[in-house]
Amino acid sequence: MTDTLFTPLTLRETEFRNRVMLSPMCQYSAEDGLANDWHRVHLGARAAGGAGVVMTEATGVEPRGRITPNCLGIWSDEHAEAIEPIVEFVRSQGATPGIQLAHAGRKASHRPPAEGSGPIPADEADGWETVSATDEPYPHANVDEGDLADTRRLDGEGVDEVIDAFATAAERAHDIGFEVAEVHAAHGYLLHQFCSPVTNDREDEYGGSFENRTRLLREVVEAVREVWPDGKPVFVRISATDWLPDRDSWDVDDSVRLAPVLAEAGADLIDVSGGGIHPDQAIPNAGPGYQVPYAEAIREGTDVPVAAVGGITEPTHADALVRNERADLVALGREMLRHPHWPLEAAHELGADVEWPVQYRRGRYD
Ligand SMILES: Cc1cc2nc3c(=O)[nH]c(=O)nc-3n(C[C@H](O)[C@H](O)[C@H](O)COP(=O)(O)O)c2cc1C
Repeated sequence: MTDTLFTPLTLRETEFRNRVMLSPMCQYSAEDGLANDWHRVHLGARAAGGAGVVMTEATGVEPRGRITPNCLGIWSDEHAEAIEPIVEFVRSQGATPGIQLAHAGRKASHRPPAEGSGPIPADEADGWETVSATDEPYPHANVDEGDLADTRRLDGEGVDEVIDAFATAAERAHDIGFEVAEVHAAHGYLLHQFCSPVTNDREDEYGGSFENRTRLLREVVEAVREVWPDGKPVFVRISATDWLPDRDSWDVDDSVRLAPVLAEAGADLIDVSGGGIHPDQAIPNAGPGYQVPYAEAIREGTDVPVAAVGGITEPTHADALVRNERADLVALGREMLRHPHWPLEAAHELGADVEWPVQYRRGRYD
């Protein structure tokens, strides 16, 4: 039988009630990395709104891995305790809670978008030293070269610390009930900085060949898989392309090559996004489903399950992606900021029979 947007999906021993995922979206609302009422309402509303998987925003595995001082973190027990009731609420609504484990590398120590998004120098009160595959800072188009924040190239010991930080964060996440761990290796953040030849200028075993550049990501996925229970899935979010065809860069062929390597390391699904490594990127067309062809290429070339994301807003479009076997999961970002109950409304439009929260039953269309 053909799968639809509302057919449950089972990965390992974990069943998602449908194929809609709340895409990870930074809220820039945490203090010291701690979840608060904003996160409870944001994630809780999408769980009550019928999403299959509710993914947290990029959540720093260590303090210097946060994009901004207001990003979430999970580097201590206090952080785990702050988000635990939210995880419980998400589960109580029948949604599967996922955590995006993240390290921003040289794109850390930045101001939130509402404050201009620029780099915060390490010597300013809110700033800190960033680390990367390279010691070249992110070349912001609108910041003078001399004002770019320094970054420090990780040495072998530093690399091991990053791997440990991901694994420890995953252990904490499991302990408080998260059911999916997503390793963030997209959007020009640390793991992407190692994978892409645009940012990786290393000469050690983490630089040079495809195998060397992807080594850290592989080791992180293996370390997460080691502490993550067998029955729970691991996702990896990648940028399928750097959108830099004018130079030696990461492209879709690399992603098709990477997916089975990640599956071998313990990943169960590739969440396929794009870009973020360099401001020169040329996004070809940000219209409806603009990144779907990358997800499709990976799924077709490898049989590894994929999530598609990017400009997906229409229920019939999302449903067709699953029916036509172009994607296993469909992630919605901005559309679910506009419509927290998008899955419930989509089910109505598509004629699927789904449970509404008991409190909202009088709002059902039937
Ligand atoms: C406000 C906002 C914050 C975002 N934060 C993250 C993030 O924390 N991690 C991530 O992988 N992607 C992040 N993204 C990207 C989204 O997850 C999604 O991939 C992108 O918005 C394209 O999907 P859409 O067209 O459905 O919004 C963010 C996007 C937005 C709009």
